[in-house]
Amino acid sequence: MTETTDLPMIPAAKPIIGEEERAAVDRVLRSGMVAQGPEVAAFETEFADQLVGGRTCVAVNSGTSGLHLGLLAAGIGAGDEVIVPSFTFAATANSVALTGATPVFADISPDTFNLDPESVRAAVTDRTAAVMPVHLYGHPADMEGLGQVAAEAGVQLFEDAAQAHGATYHGEPVGSFGVFGMFSLYPTKNMTSGEGGMVSCGDEEIARGVRLLRNQGMEKQYANEVVGLNNRMTDIHAAIGRVQLTKVGAWTAQRQANAAWLDEHLEGVVTPPVRQGCTHVYHQYTVRIAGASGAERDRVVQALREEHRVGCGVYYPTPNHELVSLARYAPAHELPETARAAAEVISLPVHPSLSQGDLERIATAVSTVVGAGR
Ligand SMILES: Cc1ncc(COP(=O)(O)O)c(C=O)c1O
Repeated sequence: MTETTDLPMIPAAKPIIGEEERAAVDRVLRSGMVAQGPEVAAFETEFADQLVGGRTCVAVNSGTSGLHLGLLAAGIGAGDEVIVPSFTFAATANSVALTGATPVFADISPDTFNLDPESVRAAVTDRTAAVMPVHLYGHPADMEGLGQVAAEAGVQLFEDAAQAHGATYHGEPVGSFGVFGMFSLYPTKNMTSGEGGMVSCGDEEIARGVRLLRNQGMEKQYANEVVGLNNRMTDIHAAIGRVQLTKVGAWTAQRQANAAWLDEHLEGVVTPPVRQGCTHVYHQYTVRIAGASGAERDRVVQALREEHRVGCGVYYPTPNHELVSLARYAPAHELPETARAAAEVISLPVHPSLSQGDLERIATAVSTVVGAGR
């Protein structure tokens, strides 16, 4: 019998970069023009047409830059409050804090792990300027409920769609609701450009603002209009992104098929529900060990990795408001669903390179480890 520890590791994520991406990079390198140029322009148009219903898109050098510049272009700055989830990657709140505004943390809905409109409503003050939900793990946030709260409060709505390329909410793609939406193109995301981000813009003024801010405030060379940064994407990265764009649809379908199989075969864990009217693109397939403490969950993760060679992750073990960097923004009250999720979640492999054998190993590993009561 094979010892489980002799088995190859099933990676938690696996970027797929093939010959076409290599050829595209080579084409750009041979052209001698590698900085932002025609590849970036083509990538922006193709991304817009394929993923956000033709909304103007502006490419930048990371998802974090995309959030930062989107916020600045929307006029967010010192004195403003932006309501965000605490249960997300720190880039969401970091980008708010870096504008000089204050991130205000609200709680999540337990089913989707996304901002709870009622918690957002309770967090609104007369300094609130915007609400910025995250479409966490690839499941759309409640855009109707959040849109209603934002409209009642008279504040802007933004979208952190870093993890949700192609997800839809009642037929409309994420990234097409907010004043701006941002997609990350980091290697472990559903598609990549190496590093990169794409800002989908609600109007031409926001698009122009992001374009200026990514290029030292210049539209015309040396005629700087605003104080800006260098957050440009290179043509090398855009060339990779353009190839990935032709593949992301099929990869997403495979993620969804893998998730459907796991939904049916996992035992002992709470599988991720999909709300009616939503499509989930499973950047992560995240289960809960119901009632677990963080330490109990960590023991499950350790056993999955070490005894069964199933790569898995915890996104995110520490709520943002408990991080040293962001603790100064901690709310005075508890965020109970955020705390519970941070203790209970495990993300299992769902990426498109999984074989049927891998899926079966994951299911066996989960029922063995969770059944053993760790
Ligand atoms: C929810 C969320 N927001 C923002 C980002 C930042 O994107 P990037 O890593 O491309 O800067 C990430 C990336 O991990 C993310 O997951």
